[in-house]
Amino acid sequence: MARIKTIGILTSGGDAPGMNAAIRAVTRAGIFNGFTIKAIYRGFDGLISGHVKPFTTENVSGIIGQGGTILKTARSKAFMTEEGRQKAYDNLIKEGIDALIVIGGNGSLTGAMTFAKEYDFCCIGLPGTIDNDLYGTDNTIGYDTTLNTIMECVDRIRDTAQSHERIFFIEVMGRDAGFLAQNSAIASGAEAAIIPEDSTDVDQLSRFMERGIRKSKKSCIVIVSESPKCGAMYYSERVKNEFPNFDVRVTILGHLQRGGRPSARDRIIASRMGVGAVEALIQGQRNIMVGVRNNEVVYVPLSEAIRSDKPFDMKLIKVLDELSI
Ligand code: F6P
Repeated sequence: MARIKTIGILTSGGDAPGMNAAIRAVTRAGIFNGFTIKAIYRGFDGLISGHVKPFTTENVSGIIGQGGTILKTARSKAFMTEEGRQKAYDNLIKEGIDALIVIGGNGSLTGAMTFAKEYDFCCIGLPGTIDNDLYGTDNTIGYDTTLNTIMECVDRIRDTAQSHERIFFIEVMGRDAGFLAQNSAIASGAEAAIIPEDSTDVDQLSRFMERGIRKSKKSCIVIVSESPKCGAMYYSERVKNEFPNFDVRVTILGHLQRGGRPSARDRIIASRMGVGAVEALIQGQRNIMVGVRNNEVVYVPLSEAIRSDKPFDMKLIKVLDELSI
């Protein structure tokens, strides 16, 4: 295998706080270890159109505390086509890039894996997504900041919920995973969370209402995982119809959850993962995602990282249930 000299780096999919810290870490660790770094703008779309720029340490000065991604990002449809991937490969060869570091979520790392197999190209993934749904890493870059953002929002909504003695359904992101919903509910002292992982036959809303939460509390907050059919609006309509005595409101937090300055924890894992990615290339690793598990940097095959069954600790449901009486 030829020695890697030039590393390409891009961010892809939904932006996540801490992506900039990861870009900085890859750039600085790469240069420290003698690699040339080339930044690719607008994710895989930028790779296809050839939007590539050499990076020096100065290009990443002062970005560790910034949310979003300085490289911009995209959900590339073109990269899903063979033609698009061929153009991407041609541009990598033209730019002399021998290895590609992709910072993104499930869809982005799936794209990286397909490409790596198709062109026998060295790809390394960094888990950059607020959803925390990548297998093999305890936390993804952006998850902790978003959890804190949701917690602050819920603390504020609690003031008005208590004042008016209302039920609030607060919808949070997470795509198909309930990590954000369940843990933000625990962190903010919410009365319940409705999450996709809790798929028992018992209807989650009925179970919550039947617990008689309103007997001891005058207001309550239910965090709901986003879902095309059963989001916060769905549950609020049901309460209006099935329990008309309650005064109900809905807040959909939306994209404000994705912005903001990354937490210390996200900056640190992003920095460790970025350094770990360069170290992986030095070791000759290919087609892996860098994770942090039990506080150790680990390398997980991309095919495993994108598994859809990241373990969800069901004991968290009991924690919330017992603490919300
Ligand atoms: O994957 C990150 C995420 O924020 C999900 O939680 C959410 O479902 C989705 O992206 C929203 O995507 P977009 O910004 O494209 O609307």
